[in-house]
Amino acid sequence: PLRVLTGITTSGTPHLGNYVGAIRPAVQASLAAGTESFYFLADYHALIKIGEPARVQRSTLEIAASWLAAGLDPERVTFYRQSDIPEIPELTWLLTCVTGKGLLNRAHAYKAAVDHNAAGGRDADDGVTAGLFMYPVLMGADILMFNAHRVPVGRDQIQHIEMARDMAASFNHLYGEHFVLPEAAIEESVATLPGLDGRKMSKSYDNTIALFAPREQLRKLIAGVLTDSRTPGQPKDTEGSALFQIYQAFASPTETAALRQAYADGIAWGDAKQLLFERIDREIAPMRETYQSLIDHPGRIEDILHAGAAKARKLSGPAMARLREAVGLRDLR
Ligand code: TYM
Repeated sequence: PLRVLTGITTSGTPHLGNYVGAIRPAVQASLAAGTESFYFLADYHALIKIGEPARVQRSTLEIAASWLAAGLDPERVTFYRQSDIPEIPELTWLLTCVTGKGLLNRAHAYKAAVDHNAAGGRDADDGVTAGLFMYPVLMGADILMFNAHRVPVGRDQIQHIEMARDMAASFNHLYGEHFVLPEAAIEESVATLPGLDGRKMSKSYDNTIALFAPREQLRKLIAGVLTDSRTPGQPKDTEGSALFQIYQAFASPTETAALRQAYADGIAWGDAKQLLFERIDREIAPMRETYQSLIDHPGRIEDILHAGAAKARKLSGPAMARLREAVGLRDLR
């Protein structure tokens, strides 16, 4: 069967970008016949950005509840927490040893940190941890551990998946055909959802709209989406309009065409924002209650994650044993 896998870093409250880029396509993919899905909470990845244990725990709860509220069926898929699978850091080391340092030098997140330092006149690696540098290898291990074919993600993750392919190819070349070469699965219309300020919606830009913001807060957040200064009656540009792009990520082609026409007809920004609010709320509202009840029952989430980890380890344990053997390590079984 086709294996689909994706994860979300547990470093904050899930936002609409995570939903349209990863959660929604992943839940849809899990419903298709002949697929086997692996969805997880990337809590080891969360350690790279923050030294706040309480935040990682809270985020783990929120992201787990979001997946479940969005319709993920833990019976049908393998749903787990990364740090419950000890084979993942173990595989990370095997992959580290077949990954060129030069490849990691080119990773966007690492390069951004280096460039930021250069711009501030600091040492290139100032404040950069080895964890940030190694981030793509840990992610490679996530994907290759379960031999995923397809990885539904937003555009910002493409490079990491290409790197995982490189690691798989290097490993296969040295030790035989152990890994499938994974591919990113990207929905063009939602590949990069803009945030409130028009830049990519991202925890690090503080421009996010929380996926499960209460209704009134959602309305307020959407009122804050950046628009230009054109007045009612003046035709508006859909090109470069964050409001239009977010709408498109939720609406049908017919609805999108109608908003495009309304833009041409000079819709007032306030009215456009009301349409956007209603469209998002229509999709999210039915999930909000489930989300809240899960957040209020963390024990239920914990049980689901434990069961998921047991299911995942039935595969990762034997897989790791084969990989250990392949590279010349002792068989621990
Ligand atoms: P993370 O936690 O930053 O984001 C989770 C998912 O949400 C997508 N996303 C977006 N998509 C569209 N528009 C946006 N504005 C937007 N913002 C975020 C991301 O592309 C991602 O799909 N390293 C990963 C987590 C990870 C992972 C993996 C993913 C760890 N191991 C293995 C896939 C496979 C990350 O930090 O994503």
